[in-house]
Amino acid sequence: MTTTTTRPESDVDLFTDEVLSDPYSTLDRLREQAPAVYLSRLDMWLICRYEPARRVLGDWESFSSAQGVGMTEQFNHAWSAALICQDPPTQTEQRAIFTENLSTRALRPLQATIDVRAEELVDELVSRGRFDAVADLAHDLPINVIMDLIGWPPSRRERLIPMATAWFETIGPDNERNRSSWPVVGELFEYLNQAIDQDDLTPGSFGRHLLDVHRAGHLPREAAVGLLAGYVVAAFDTTINAIASAVWLFAREPEQWDALRAAPSLVASAFNEVIRVESPIQYFTRVATREVDVDGVTIPEGARVLISYGGANRDARHFAEPARFDIARNAVDHLAFSFGNHACAGQNLARLEGHAVLRALIPRVARFEFDGTPERALNNAGRGFAHLPVRVTPA
Ligand code: HEM
Repeated sequence: MTTTTTRPESDVDLFTDEVLSDPYSTLDRLREQAPAVYLSRLDMWLICRYEPARRVLGDWESFSSAQGVGMTEQFNHAWSAALICQDPPTQTEQRAIFTENLSTRALRPLQATIDVRAEELVDELVSRGRFDAVADLAHDLPINVIMDLIGWPPSRRERLIPMATAWFETIGPDNERNRSSWPVVGELFEYLNQAIDQDDLTPGSFGRHLLDVHRAGHLPREAAVGLLAGYVVAAFDTTINAIASAVWLFAREPEQWDALRAAPSLVASAFNEVIRVESPIQYFTRVATREVDVDGVTIPEGARVLISYGGANRDARHFAEPARFDIARNAVDHLAFSFGNHACAGQNLARLEGHAVLRALIPRVARFEFDGTPERALNNAGRGFAHLPVRVTPA
């Protein structure tokens, strides 16, 4: 492998409204420029090719999360005790506590509840004929079923969606979206601390389990706040973006909806394809703990590396015709849930929700059509919609 002597560099701003609205042409260009590109505005190295992204995510000793996974000191300092900002062995220990209730086996008894809720909701929406796929469809399971599991009091659920959105904004660089989101993140901190102090999480819930482990002296308070945030933040924009993107893609490509209705066993493959094509979380970062050669480009020790999950998922070196939405592709190795020791700890739950919604829609909806213009929710780290008005033809 020859080492590049001139540093591949770009002064592009990935976080303007224009690029956030349609990031893929910019990411395609940067992906072709080099395996890793130095972004001079951010002082970070972007990786948006599939193989190098997967290698970086799989090598925590060379690419650490312990100096934070956001793009500013403020974020990395604020969440320094959180699971996502740890390396093993601390990360391994905290993650075991978090995922105890999230294995496929532990979640199996929940499937019926989630399925019934999704079916009742879809029945109601189909009888209305037109609805907003974000507020009316995608918000329902996270707010009503997932927060029950976590044990979050219903009276305090209303603010969680804007708080989660703000948290994802603050992963981004020091821009206006990031700065204006900190007051809401401050409210989130208060909320999480109140949950610990007031002890009002439902007995038997995931959240109460965390508090019990904390009270038994096995989890410091800051780590308990971080893990609780892992439930209440990660449970919202992620699955909400995924479900809304599914409806958006199927409204644009009705033949793919026909194909899924003809072969409902492709639900798992279809959900993977939705989050490959429209990755709900677009970026997190790592810090290089040593000088590393990435396919001929030298990343210096101490450099911050920006991983583009969405960019990697659209690398033609790995996925043929990557911009094509093809529910039969079976993209099991996409990076939308990341990879390696930090791979999404809630992915079984996310799949349970996504599959339940698709399974409820398949026998009830023959067609989705846009009922007005979809409005994107621009966010430094998330990709989804603010409003997605649709009309459905009942099956
Ligand atoms: C479609 C839905 C979802 C997507 C696309 C998604 C995506 C991701 C990604 C990309 C990461 C990686 C972070 C990294 O590389 O550093 C991650 C981590 C994580 N996710 Fe998810 N997520 C989803 C749903 C959920 C849900 C429902 C929960 C919780 C109930 C959750 C909890 C977490 C936690 C706690 C981590 C940190 C894991 C660790 O650091 O070990 N996620 N997720």
